[in-house]
Amino acid sequence: MTTTDPADRVLARASLAEGDPTGWFDRLYTAAARGEAEVPWSRGKPNAELAAWVPPGAGRRALVVGSALGDDAELLAAHGWAVTAFDVAPTAVEAARKRFPESTVDYVVADLLDPPAPWRQAFDLVVEIMNIQAMPRDYRARALTSLAGFLAPGGTAIVCEVAEESIDAATWQSPPWPFSRAEIESVAQDGVRLVSLETIRDGARHWATFTR
Ligand SMILES: C[S@@+](CC[C@H](N)C(=O)[O-])C[C@H]1O[C@@H](n2cnc3c(N)ncnc32)[C@H](O)[C@@H]1O
Repeated sequence: MTTTDPADRVLARASLAEGDPTGWFDRLYTAAARGEAEVPWSRGKPNAELAAWVPPGAGRRALVVGSALGDDAELLAAHGWAVTAFDVAPTAVEAARKRFPESTVDYVVADLLDPPAPWRQAFDLVVEIMNIQAMPRDYRARALTSLAGFLAPGGTAIVCEVAEESIDAATWQSPPWPFSRAEIESVAQDGVRLVSLETIRDGARHWATFTR
């Protein structure tokens, strides 16, 4: 560690050293709310590929995993989806509610590693962008099982993670822990099947769709 390490790296290292894969997220959002840190993934706008892809929801149910400050959730709501959005960090959920006080989105504190049972096969659209990769690999199988479980019959899941094939493993510093193509494909379990898999942003990220 160096004195120039940004707050997210310092907090992540401390959390992971305690065997806590997710505690640092809330600490980071709390520090950011005080103006003492930056949340590196905060763009203030929705994911560009999701915005280009999103079809009309017509009242169907969508679930946004790792909803952060709510931009992707609000995008889906604006396209007519009935959105539930969850994050493990209570401060992020609170901040999203405050940012969008008139929102129809149901913002919830929940953990992908132990999600509410009623969410099983309950969503016509499931959006997972850059969250599972933010937890150490030991948690990946459990997270992917939860993710596949959310998808209702006939629904669509979007999964986007950093592509392991695009990084220089010798110099890469986690988090995030990138995904190989085979790991992305492993969302296809428990009756879920792969529909499409491509790379975006010059090969830097996998972008996959699944259905059940
Ligand atoms: C790298 S950020 C990505 C945020 C957003 N999806 C995006 O694309 O910008 C990861 C987010 O997932 C949340 N998160 C991490 N682990 C989680 C878990 N186990 N359950 C729910 N949310 C989690 C973090 O709090 C954080 O908001």
